[in-house]
Amino acid sequence: MRLAALAQPLLRLLPPETAHCAAIEALKVLAPRPGNPPDPRLAIRALGLAFPNPLGLAAGFDKNAELPAAMLNLGFGFVEVGTLTPRPQPGNPRPRLFRLGEDGAVINRFGFNNEGFERALARLARRPAGIVGVNVGANKDSADRGADYALGVATFAPVADYFAINVSSPNTPGLRDLQRRAALDELVARVVAARERAAPRRPVLVKIAPDLDEREIEDVVAVVLARGCEGLIVSNTTLARPASLRSRHRGEAGGLSGRPLFEPSTGALARAYLASGGGLTLIGAGGIEDGATALAKIEAGASLVQLYTSLALKGIGVVDAVLDGLTRAVQEGGASGVGALRGRRAREWVNRSQ
Ligand SMILES: Cc1cc2nc3c(=O)[nH]c(=O)nc-3n(C[C@H](O)[C@H](O)[C@H](O)COP(=O)(O)O)c2cc1C
Repeated sequence: MRLAALAQPLLRLLPPETAHCAAIEALKVLAPRPGNPPDPRLAIRALGLAFPNPLGLAAGFDKNAELPAAMLNLGFGFVEVGTLTPRPQPGNPRPRLFRLGEDGAVINRFGFNNEGFERALARLARRPAGIVGVNVGANKDSADRGADYALGVATFAPVADYFAINVSSPNTPGLRDLQRRAALDELVARVVAARERAAPRRPVLVKIAPDLDEREIEDVVAVVLARGCEGLIVSNTTLARPASLRSRHRGEAGGLSGRPLFEPSTGALARAYLASGGGLTLIGAGGIEDGATALAKIEAGASLVQLYTSLALKGIGVVDAVLDGLTRAVQEGGASGVGALRGRRAREWVNRSQ
């Protein structure tokens, strides 16, 4: 068992944000070495990149790009750092992270606390061997949010393997309005223009909320395709509070992630897949905690998947659990590789979430 896995029961005794900071510090010190190489059938080509496996670390865990190498060594096929904003900002007052243990969920209202572009860029200058995406956002008090995103693309082009344009955090007032068709079109036009000016030219994905309806998802897909972006990340956290929630923190404000997000985010993913006719690279996120939930995202249309909450609640063992489960699914399905399973249940997922 890895040392990092042994620490999990201790971290659970700490308040959630303290536990997160302790985990980051511990990982910096432990600096895990690479584990066994993944099964070659999990390798996948997407976004012009060769991913060793389709499981990524979702944005928000390594907001300041402190540990991409450590997380890649723990088995992730790629790591997305951020959300980063041009200037450092403190985020919302604490407490702002809540465990909903009985529900397998978390609520956060961090509000883009981060150290800003400059410090993260300096860290990323020493690029790890592996795929690192940079998730960019806008400062809370920005007078021109579009300029913040465009600056992010210009700044990180030398070091980012791809960009995630985060217009779906519920914790920066008004940010989600950037998902509306006209606003998104204007924003994406500026981001793509910045990417075309930058070198090298990097893939751009827009990260959306699970709370968009069918029509809104179709609008997003139309804009992204028309402007020449490469894909979407579906999804960020939800503002919804399903009646099934039991934990005492269920009424906290912020974005809900983890198990209760699995169904709605997979439904939204399948809609985006069908609306795009398979023409976009989709990263599925929301409630992945084992092989079955990761496989469901791929069958709903994802080329790649990401997780965060199950890592926070269960520890690093989830990475091997997901990868082992996916390897078994490829074997049992008689598929040549994990990519062959993509989208085969998209229609079912859309019908189920109607
Ligand atoms: C504590 C926390 C912080 C997050 N911070 C960010 C962030 O800064 N930027 C972002 O795009 N998504 C952020 N997310 C959303 C995750 O990247 C992911 O999209 C979402 O949590 C769904 O995946 P999960 O259910 O596996 O956690 C955050 C999630 C959590 C739980």
